Amino acid sequence: MSENDENSVLQISSMDNRPLKINTIKSNMSSRIPEKVVKLSRKIEARDPVDFSFIKEAVAGAGISANEFENHSSFSHPPDQSYGRILLHESRRLKIFLMCWTPGDFTAIHDHGSTDWGCVVALGDFTHRVYRFEDGLLRLRSNSPFGEGQVACLTGDLIHMMGNTGNKNIMSLHIYGSDSGNGSLAKKSRVYLPESRKVITTNGPAFLNCPREAIIREEAFSAICKHALDDYLDLLKLRLKISTRTGNRQQDAGQRNTGQTSIGQHKTGSSNSRHLNKV
Ligand SMILES: [Fe+2]
Repeated sequence: MSENDENSVLQISSMDNRPLKINTIKSNMSSRIPEKVVKLSRKIEARDPVDFSFIKEAVAGAGISANEFENHSSFSHPPDQSYGRILLHESRRLKIFLMCWTPGDFTAIHDHGSTDWGCVVALGDFTHRVYRFEDGLLRLRSNSPFGEGQVACLTGDLIHMMGNTGNKNIMSLHIYGSDSGNGSLAKKSRVYLPESRKVITTNGPAFLNCPREAIIREEAFSAICKHALDDYLDLLKLRLKISTRTGNRQQDAGQRNTGQTSIGQHKTGSSNSRHLNKV
């Protein structure tokens, strides 16, 4: 994908209606979106209501693989955005994103806001965690890998975290749908940041370091069980280790910090250890 002709900025509004630049790449030239994705979007748009069996069948039938996106992927997202988002399709009831992951890229722990139905298609091998709230605590439900070709269905209340712990760039296709068609997809998704003891509500992105202007609400958060917390911190340490090994792409992230403190953002050094030990 050319940075010059397609790196338009998707603008959404923050709570106080300031324009918010997330630097999501918006592929608004449908002729350049893979035909298989165009057909899949038309099939889903024509279906009402949508259920998981339909989604799974439609995705399987589309036969989408990483090869489709050779000319569409972009792994040059800003280092303070913890993975890349490319919007392939957008309507009031459906959004389809191609997410691009360099080694060490991770989401935060997050849910999916107002999403009524959808799925994630792994186009590479991902490290994946699924959580649940139980007895007032965020608990780790599953730590199974999410491998290439797998499809995971989701609703707004799915709480998970995914990332690239391999040594090459990988992609995933994300389909988010709304029954109401009110265009509020993924708004008010919650991002859990145990390291800063906060849960934030955002307009969509699940970055480890969500820009301050994307935050709708911020609350205290400490309700995470020890097992889940230890696992989460191990993942962040692994992320830092991979970032160190694979270069400096994320090194400048701390310098771009908009005010939030997160060990997910910093690369190396004793300050990270101090943050880890504080939790
Ligand atoms: Fe997600």
